[in-house]
Amino acid sequence: MTLLLPILLGLLAFLIGGLYLLGGFRQRQPGEPPLDRGLIPWLGHGLEYRKDKMKFLERMRQKHGNVFTVQLGGYFITFLMDPFLFGAFVKENRERLDFNKYAIQLVHQLFGYKSSGNERQMITKSSHNHLMGPGLEILTLSMMTNLQSLLLKNVVPSSVQKTWIEDNLYNYSYNIIFRAGYLSLFGNVSHRSEGSLEKDKEKDISESEALYYKFCTFDRFIPNFAFGGLKREKKREAETARAFFWNALSIQKLKTRDNVSKWVCDVHQAIMEMGINESMVDRLMLVLLWVSQANTGPTAFWLLLFIMKHPEAMAAVKGEVDKVLKESGQKVLHGGPLIDLTCEMLKKMPILDSAVDETLRLTATPTLIRAVNQDMTLNMADGCKCVLRKGDRLALFPYMVVQTDPEIHPDPHSFKYDRFFNPDGSKKTDFYKAGKKVKYYNMPWGAGVSMCPGRFFANNELKQFIFLTLVYFEIELKNPHDEVPDTDLNRKGFGVNHPLKDMPFRYRPRF
Ligand code: HEM
Repeated sequence: MTLLLPILLGLLAFLIGGLYLLGGFRQRQPGEPPLDRGLIPWLGHGLEYRKDKMKFLERMRQKHGNVFTVQLGGYFITFLMDPFLFGAFVKENRERLDFNKYAIQLVHQLFGYKSSGNERQMITKSSHNHLMGPGLEILTLSMMTNLQSLLLKNVVPSSVQKTWIEDNLYNYSYNIIFRAGYLSLFGNVSHRSEGSLEKDKEKDISESEALYYKFCTFDRFIPNFAFGGLKREKKREAETARAFFWNALSIQKLKTRDNVSKWVCDVHQAIMEMGINESMVDRLMLVLLWVSQANTGPTAFWLLLFIMKHPEAMAAVKGEVDKVLKESGQKVLHGGPLIDLTCEMLKKMPILDSAVDETLRLTATPTLIRAVNQDMTLNMADGCKCVLRKGDRLALFPYMVVQTDPEIHPDPHSFKYDRFFNPDGSKKTDFYKAGKKVKYYNMPWGAGVSMCPGRFFANNELKQFIFLTLVYFEIELKNPHDEVPDTDLNRKGFGVNHPLKDMPFRYRPRF
């Protein structure tokens, strides 16, 4: 008995200490938002959040109001569910609300890249130089060339017989835009390797196709990598897919390619100069591939699908495409030259711009997260204050709070191609809630320090894809009355939604 008591007391102390560390005794302090720890220590509401994030956040909003803190997988995360509070998140000093800390952890989990701490700054600088301004024009030109050779690869133009080609719309859109984007950013097969231009092209086409299917396999693991929920067998499969890309995008392989974009070259060179070892550099290349490709393909699918499902949108977009083509003095002719789709032409397409924004409003669901670096008080737009604890996280989920709020966007689940378009041709930016103008009314690209630096390029890629598809092909859904597919709940919070099923369609050349 004398021995048993200290053992039991020790165990109790251990248990209490453990629970304390797992946040089991945390209480809401004055000024802090309502706290909901959930029943399971450390995990908190993790399972419910993972199963259906929107349902969970709605439940919490009903229970606690627009600001609350929940425990999710070891973190206490405060969600701001009112669009008028977003400014406090976006504008807060980055020393206090830190994106870097969160990003470092995430890229390690997803891509195996261990950060030295300064890469983001370097990538941001390089992105500003090469994904915007004059650099954007060069990249867009390269995209146009690659896009046309992929779009037209299966097509045998004939003035006599125009045969329909059948495919599935998601696979078709993602496949084409992934491969054209990959070739534009990571370069083409070296012209020295195959000996003739035709053979180089064929190799680009076959290699990029294999890479696309591997990428889809890898990308399917992304939510599980993030939540750490992979069983042993699946984990091995996921790690093999990841390692495939470290090798495929390695410095040694990139050195043998032509036309590697300045964006990739610059990041490459800068990271080598930082003294990072080669195997880590290869991993960073996977980060660049993923951020540049994982959202553009699914968006291209939704955009084309929404346009095809809405005849009035198709008529308006096709009318704009034809007008811009005509004004450029070009025509699609049997045996004629390829279309020269310039950045200037892309800038003259407000209707298509609005259709892209509307597609992203309906399908882009990123969760924006910052690490709280010190105990602090967040000053809200409504004059309230919100006390946050060091070590916690602050999060926004704009898809739910702004993009599908019926007050800001009436009939929020319908696709309206002209929602972001004023009758005078300018971009519509006036959206209101409770009579007040909402500044952050659509946030597919994130906001503040982590706002997507590739957004102008992505926008151009999407417009090029639609423009060229509509001028070169007649397209139709095989089952036009099929509903727009539901989305995979597992992907909510990771960027653009994935459909649960594909949509069969067919196309044939117009020329
Ligand atoms: C439809 C396509 C795209 C969407 C919806 C999208 C969306 C986003 C979002 C929401 C973020 C911020 C993530 C966060 O705050 O946690 C982001 C970051 C980023 N995106 Fe994009 N993106 C797209 C395409 C691209 C493309 C084509 C590129 C490059 C060529 C690119 C490069 C980046 C980079 C480098 C970051 C990291 C920024 C940082 O760490 O500060 N994105 N993107």
